[in-house]
This record gives sequence, structure tokens and C-alpha cells, in this order.
Amino acid sequence: MTTTMKLFAGALLASAFAMPAHAQVKEVQMLHWWTSGGEAAALNVLKADLAKQGFGWKDVPVAGGGGSAAMTALKAMVAAGNHPTSSQMLGYTVLDYAAAGKMGDLTATAKAEGWDEAVPKALQKFSVHNGKWVAAPVNVHSVNWLWISKSVMDKIGGTEPKTFDDLIALLDKAKAAGVTPLAQGGQPWQEATMFDSVVLSTGGTDFYKKAFLDLDEASLKSATMKKAFDNLAKLRSYTDANYAGRDWNLATAMVIKGDALVQVMGDWAKGEFVAAKKTPGTDFLCFRFPGTQGTVAYNSDMFGMFKVPADRQEAQVALAKATLSKSFQSAFNVVKGSVPARTDVPDTDFDACGKKGIADLKDANAKGTLVGSIAQGYGQPPAIAAAYTDVVTKFFHGQIATSDAAVTELVKAINAAK
Ligand code: GAL
Repeated sequence: MTTTMKLFAGALLASAFAMPAHAQVKEVQMLHWWTSGGEAAALNVLKADLAKQGFGWKDVPVAGGGGSAAMTALKAMVAAGNHPTSSQMLGYTVLDYAAAGKMGDLTATAKAEGWDEAVPKALQKFSVHNGKWVAAPVNVHSVNWLWISKSVMDKIGGTEPKTFDDLIALLDKAKAAGVTPLAQGGQPWQEATMFDSVVLSTGGTDFYKKAFLDLDEASLKSATMKKAFDNLAKLRSYTDANYAGRDWNLATAMVIKGDALVQVMGDWAKGEFVAAKKTPGTDFLCFRFPGTQGTVAYNSDMFGMFKVPADRQEAQVALAKATLSKSFQSAFNVVKGSVPARTDVPDTDFDACGKKGIADLKDANAKGTLVGSIAQGYGQPPAIAAAYTDVVTKFFHGQIATSDAAVTELVKAINAAK
């Protein structure tokens, strides 16, 4: 589906989805964009958990990775007074709905379940509004990863790239061997997600913080930012000819099948490898994007909890409790590719990439190198994040011709969105 079709489908869905007066009170209505194989498998873990407790599930899926179509559909539903029990949301979107008075209050559940102590403070900044819990964090994803085909790596005799130049040399080897070097999904959110890693790698963590979290204008238009755009252009030259418009999970499939060497993507990509019964070390390799080792650019899927009538609160509380239970946090995240949203979940059941993800998060949190992904809703509010995405994608697709022009446009677009 094209983006326009998705938006159209989302709007249709929003108008069609009406909560009937006789709606089952023991039912959870969930809006989400988890429609790929790995994502759907992860969501099934939650459906099964709630079914065991006697709660029904009304699925409201809106396809489109990164969730922009889903958020358009949600906006229409909320405007029509027709919101679901809960919706998947990212960071600043939760705070926007909370500030608009749309969210419920889960504080009593949070206290009883010990969320204040168990959930990392970085996530609480987005799930707690004016002292009230308004969302249940499901996971922690991070974007600065490489997902590599082991068979292609063996074929070209490659090793882990430690620097950006190493990565370019590795991509060259794949090209020389006749394999598509970079499996790219050419949609705006995917290009922006990749650029988060490129900026971190080019400028370092402090530069990323200054530019994207503080919106320091000197950093946004600096020579370092220009270099980051140059590096993005270098990566673009390693895609295949058909990358434009490709869904992220189809790009992952190219790596899974050995048709491409590497995908730069958040660790939801691992969910696709898991769904295809692939094992890290044997079938695929996960490395941090070169030059970002020690830093974690995160996002967290949250289940935003809307205000619901009294008779529907039992189902909402059950959903919230299930989401943050330790057993669910392990079972779900093992399948999803993410890591737990609690600090007290053992890594026993996770594969090597999951164990690394958990250790990296702990480490980055302690060192102050845990940074919100701007592409994924954790760096800036939606309007600014959209301005960022727009400039990156225009550059990637050649509508902004040079890195010089890109930094000028970046500053302009961000200032206009403020
Ligand atoms: C992200 C989300 C992930 C994954 C991805 C692709 O925004 O946090 O859970 O679903 O989109 O759809």
C-alpha cells in the first residue's frame, strides 16, 4: 500500500470503528501498527495472556511501520469521541494526549504493581504526566543497529565494522561479490531512523544531544551535520534500484534470505528473524551501528490508556497489569526484538542480541549515553520530528541536492515547526 492509501484506509477505519452501546465490557480495544510477521507474533502473546484471564480483544490494526498512518487514524477517532481502550504510541504523542485531557489515570495500578521503582526513569518521563501514570510502557527498542546476513558475511569474508569507514569497506566487498550491500526500505520514517544512527556515528553522543535534544542551531547547521548528510549519501549509493517505498520488513526479508548484506534498522527487525526461526550467530549477526557502540538511541512502545467509562476500567487495568508483569515482559520482548521496560527482568530467555540489548541499555543508562531517537518520537514533539523526517527523506531521494542545502533546510524546517 502507498502512504496515501494507508492514510485513506486509516481514516476509513477510524470512521467505521464505533464502540457499540452493547460493547462487551470485558474487552480491550487496541489500536496498533503491529502488522508484520514478527510484530503480530509478539502481539499474540498479549492477546493470549488476556484471553486466559477472560478478557476479549478487539483488534484495531493500522498498517504502516513507524506508526504515522496509525496516529492519523487515532486522531480521527479521538476527535469523533470514539477512542479505543488503548493505543500503541511513542513518547511525545503520549504527552500530547495527556495534556489534552484524553488519558485515564493508572496511578493506583502503578503503585500496587511497583512501576515507580521498576520502570526506567527515561521512560517515566513519557508515561507519567503531572504525576499520573497515563501509559504502560511495553518495551525498549533501539535504532542504532546493523542486521547482517551471516551467509553473505561468510561469502565475502567480512568482519564486524567498528568505524563508518569499515562499514563502507564492507559494503564495497558485498558489491564486488554481486550482492545488494544495503537492504533499504525507502520510506520517510525509515530513512530518518537510519539518519539518527548516522548522526550519532558522525558527531558522537554529545553532538547528537546538542543538535536533536537541545535543538542547538549552531550544531544543526555545523560542518559535522553536513558530514552526517554526506555519510547518509554514501550509504544511499549501496541500495538496490527498487528501494523506494519498500516496507521495512521486506528489507529485513532480503537479509534473512541472503539477498542483501545488511539492514540498518531498529531491533524490531530482529522480530522478523525470530519469526523466520533464525538464530543470531548462526544465521544473522547484530552489531551496533559503527561509531555508536556504548550509546543507545531508544524508543519505547507505550500503550496509552484513554479515559474509559467505569464499567470498562477493569479490562483496562487488566491490560496494564499484564503489560508490565515480569513474565509478559520477558515472553513478549523475546519475540518482539526489544528489551524489557523494567529493570528487574532476567535476560535468561533472550537470545544473544537480546542479551546484548539488555546489557547495552543498562550500561548507557548508567553512563548518560541513553538518548531518545528523534525519528521515533523520543527526541522532540511530533511536529519537529516530522520536520526532521521530511528534510532527511527529501535529501535521501534527491529533492534536496547537497548536504549544504540539507542543513539549511533542516534549520528552516525545525524553526518553522517550533
Ligand atoms: C516502531 C515501533 C516498533 C515497530 C516499528 C515498525 O515505531 O516502535 O515497535 O513496530 O515501528 O513498525
